Amino acid sequence: MRSKIIAGNWKMNMNNKETKNLVKGIKKSIKRVQLDNTRVIVAPAYVNLTSAIKRAKKSNLEVVSQNMHQAKNGAFTGEISADMLKGIGVKTVILGHSERRSIFGETDAILAEKVNSALENGLEIIFCFGELLEDRKSENHFSVVESQLKNGLFHLDSMAWNQIVLAYEPVWAIGTGETASPEQAQEMHAFIRKLLQEKYNTSVADNTSILYGGSVKPANAEEIFSKQDVDGGLIGGASLNVADFTAIIKAI
Ligand code: PGA
Repeated sequence: MRSKIIAGNWKMNMNNKETKNLVKGIKKSIKRVQLDNTRVIVAPAYVNLTSAIKRAKKSNLEVVSQNMHQAKNGAFTGEISADMLKGIGVKTVILGHSERRSIFGETDAILAEKVNSALENGLEIIFCFGELLEDRKSENHFSVVESQLKNGLFHLDSMAWNQIVLAYEPVWAIGTGETASPEQAQEMHAFIRKLLQEKYNTSVADNTSILYGGSVKPANAEEIFSKQDVDGGLIGGASLNVADFTAIIKAI
């Protein structure tokens, strides 16, 4: 059975002290929430991973990375490898976020390399993808999503899918206050599951968690999560506040 997941992507927010306080706050608040088959995840900045992991000990809160470099090691000034993440106790990495793709030039080919490196190091992947506004307007959103999945992930064998979580994030909904309607989210998630069924099998299609991301807030979370193929959310802005993030967790 696929898990439900609420993941907070903190992006370049929260210094070390703020990270510790936010982890402490979330840890405390989720103690009072019944988390049946639901994972709660936060992704602080690289430099704060270790202290977040320490603070999250003895709780159900998982601390993951927002990114990593594809190379094993070497002359890549300023970068972080999968092995380094593993070495500090990180078990999961977010790859392919639209900000990585658009601001930092990460292509499907680079992402496929990152996927391989993460899996070789035993890291689970939350793989993000989604169409631009112009793709949706020109009704190319299904083909864009299909090609992002094919190029980034479909070289994997079915076994590897135990380690993959998908996060559909229409770029026009990220940080804009605009969300896909629950029907638009469901339509795309059902399409993605159909692709998994066609490329792999029913087991991969049924067992892969597909998260929705893009301006999920306490006010819209419940309706989006009520859709049958939406298994949770990747939350940006609203994950930086204990009350909002907790309300979103409760919504699932
Ligand atoms: P948002 O970000 O919730 O602030 O729109 C989502 C994301 O970037 O994952």
